[in-house]
Amino acid sequence: MIDLLRTRRSIRKFENTPVEAEKIEILKEALLRSPSSRGRNPWQFIFVQDAAILKRLASAKDHGGEFLDGTPLGVVILGDETVSDVWIEDCSIAAIILQLTAHDLGLGSCWVQIRNRNNKSGETAESVIQKLLGIPPQMRVLAIVGIGKASETKRGIPLMMLKKNAVHNEG
Ligand SMILES: Cc1cc2nc3c(=O)[nH]c(=O)nc-3n(C[C@H](O)[C@H](O)[C@H](O)COP(=O)(O)O)c2cc1C
Repeated sequence: MIDLLRTRRSIRKFENTPVEAEKIEILKEALLRSPSSRGRNPWQFIFVQDAAILKRLASAKDHGGEFLDGTPLGVVILGDETVSDVWIEDCSIAAIILQLTAHDLGLGSCWVQIRNRNNKSGETAESVIQKLLGIPPQMRVLAIVGIGKASETKRGIPLMMLKKNAVHNEG
């Protein structure tokens, strides 16, 4: 695990090849194995591989999602706020587990924040996506994780660059 963490970076440039079906199955399993408060599993995950839909997801918020246009796979992370009051925490954990599993499979990924973001016309990115994908209002949209075979290389953050003063010892 520490090697995965040492080498993980956000990847926004991908080769134009689909993610292999076996890898998609492992990504789905990883998501469903995520821990959640009281085991309520308040989430739903939408795997999008259709280029036209990914293009529309890319403009769902004003900036920071553009790379989804041309990304082989986008996973939309949804949480049911009527099932859990901590759906944001549960869904965030699932999203990072997805990213680390993707990295373990030799894939790159990057989080696209949707909750609390707007598109260029001022409409919430969440509502744009709910309409586009037919998602009911109680299913809140946290983020989209773009995934594919990396076409950019990034070095892991060196140990000496870590913000060590964020960690405190008491006693
Ligand atoms: C909650 C969250 C929201 C993020 N939103 C976006 C986003 O909308 N677009 C994007 O390109 N990257 C996004 N990122 C990726 C961060 O920019 C990235 O993790 C950060 O710059 C550190 O770089 P690294 O992941 O390569 O270590 C997000 C990351 C997190 C954890």
